[in-house]
Amino acid sequence: MSLQDLHKHKNFPDLETEHLFLRQMTFDDIDFVYNEFSDPMITQYLMDEPPLTNRDEARDIIQFYSDPETKTHNRWVLVRKIDNQTIGTCGFHKWDKRYFRAEIGYDMLPQFWGHGYMKEALEVVLANGFQQMELNRIDALVAIENKRSLSLLNRLGFQQEGLLRDYFYLDGKFYDHFLLSLLKRDWHKNKIQG
Ligand SMILES: CC(C)(COP(=O)(O)OP(=O)(O)OC[C@H]1O[C@@H](n2cnc3c(N)ncnc32)[C@H](O)[C@@H]1OP(=O)(O)O)[C@@H](O)C(=O)NCCC(=O)NCCS
Repeated sequence: MSLQDLHKHKNFPDLETEHLFLRQMTFDDIDFVYNEFSDPMITQYLMDEPPLTNRDEARDIIQFYSDPETKTHNRWVLVRKIDNQTIGTCGFHKWDKRYFRAEIGYDMLPQFWGHGYMKEALEVVLANGFQQMELNRIDALVAIENKRSLSLLNRLGFQQEGLLRDYFYLDGKFYDHFLLSLLKRDWHKNKIQG
């Protein structure tokens, strides 16, 4: 098998967009992962896990995502081409092969919000999901106050399906979340319509 064929058969290959490289997370990303998941602007919307308090926890996250080809989750790191800056992460969770579905997750340092970078990244990530991973459905769970995330998902064609009441619990409080999804047939239709 050629190197090109090997790349083609990866579930989570490195990806590229106009402004970004998407590569798998490595242990060199410990400082970035720590900064990202301890930043209150970011963690205010992530109720499934508490904010990080030390670098050992960042190492655990990277360990969780290591060797993704053997797993049902992965995390790409977003690197801006123009200056090689690491700006955020995104990836899949809870890939259920039997039902052809997975959940998407993403985050970006606040100084890089407002440039369209995450939309650009998720466009290739969704294509990877529907084509390489052969998904039929991609889920997203979003805290109801997370306007930026909801607007991003809307622009990508996700549909809101319902309100999950008291879905996550953190620090003594329950948090409502919206459930959204994008189906392969709708993604395909949107792509054709441009
Ligand atoms: C969710 C998150 C990634 C969204 O970031 P974002 O920068 O708003 O999203 P995008 O990359 O799609 O950029 C869209 C913004 O860039 C602007 N933009 C500028 N140039 C653009 C371009 N060429 N193309 C598209 N959008 C562009 C858009 O107008 C929009 O800004 P606005 O909302 O102020 O109008 C970010 O808010 C985040 O990391 N939040 C914390 C973590 C989190 O909530 N994760 C999701 C949990 S469900």
